[in-house]
Amino acid sequence: MRNSLSFLSKPLVMTAFVGAVTMTGALNAHAQTASPTLYDQLGGKPAITKVVHDMIVNVAADNRINHFFAKTNIPHLQMELVNQVCEGTGGPCKYTGLSMKQAHKGMNLNTADFNALVEDLQKSMDSNHVPLGLQNQLLAILAPMQPDVVHQ
Ligand code: HEM
Repeated sequence: MRNSLSFLSKPLVMTAFVGAVTMTGALNAHAQTASPTLYDQLGGKPAITKVVHDMIVNVAADNRINHFFAKTNIPHLQMELVNQVCEGTGGPCKYTGLSMKQAHKGMNLNTADFNALVEDLQKSMDSNHVPLGLQNQLLAILAPMQPDVVHQ
């Protein structure tokens, strides 16, 4: 009786072992094939920091809108923007700045101002060789903020 039981348990153990290995393999394969976040595709925080930095350089040279930033603490703005884009694209950051309504209150920005800033961002993404598909994904995240930015 003991013999027959121990004979039976071997295939059972093997089945459980093979099952566990197969399961682990399946989970690993899933982790490897899960689609990367936009944050990852953009190149993570260093690449986002470069794009935001170059956008601010473009804004500083843009006579349509640079007057809005005359009294702005630019390093602080850059830090807030990087965290906002990092978090919004699925990265490991936390945006702790003002709401978009609060940040732009009293500036009375209009759609042309908004579009000018978007152009300065696009120019930065172009010069940093961000593929068009990724540019559009980032713009699609920012576009819904427009009502909270303009006419505040
Ligand atoms: C989707 C578009 C925009 C986003 C995501 C955005 C985001 C931000 C963020 C995160 C801040 C910092 C908030 C804080 O200090 O806590 C900020 C501040 C500011 N934004 Fe925007 N912004 C947008 C559009 C614009 C536009 C179109 C203008 C002007 C043309 C503008 C002008 C400013 C200025 C001048 C400040 C600094 C205010 C200060 O000196 O404290 N923003 N924005």
